[in-house]
Amino acid sequence: MVILAYLMGSISSAILLCKLFKLPDPRSTGSKNPGATNVLRISNKYIASCVLLFDILKGTLPVWSSYFLGLEPVSLGIVAVAACLGHMYPIFFNFNGGKAVATAFGVLLPIGLDLGGLLVLTWIFVAKATRYSSLAAIVTVAMAPLYTWLLKPIYVYPVLMLSGLIIFRHKDNIIRLLQGKESKISFSKKL
Ligand code: G3P
Repeated sequence: MVILAYLMGSISSAILLCKLFKLPDPRSTGSKNPGATNVLRISNKYIASCVLLFDILKGTLPVWSSYFLGLEPVSLGIVAVAACLGHMYPIFFNFNGGKAVATAFGVLLPIGLDLGGLLVLTWIFVAKATRYSSLAAIVTVAMAPLYTWLLKPIYVYPVLMLSGLIIFRHKDNIIRLLQGKESKISFSKKL
């Protein structure tokens, strides 16, 4: 399941959908990140939503399947981290992947809808207040271990590891935020 999760995580929907719709490669334009936010910059909210949905599902499916196969919490945590590592360092795309925010959300969803709801509300609150997708992601993943500790403490260590990895992957965003150079997102972008 760990290998399967890594391989599923390695499927970059952002790169594939941009190829399909003859859009620029998300790795060479905008923030150069193959994720939903950057696809929104170079396309529209419909294609970006497909990327978001796919990236969430490729995290949820292996963790959910592992749960139903009877894997215990430590193993579930390893499967979850493997899916996110696949997105960050995809074997199919020269190990040049994204930040795994959507995939991390996907792997955390099976823990519970209460956790998922808190994460979504945190992201929406920060994104609406600042219009920085990266800042919303950073604040949300920074809060994730606390929410997990309150709701399902058994999963707090894998969530801590995921949060650390995702914040590390945002180092360029953090520099741009500090320099005031980070680009904002538009919620009203049309087709
Ligand atoms: O989910 C990724 C987001 O946090 C940052 O994306 O394209 O602005 O680097 P981007």
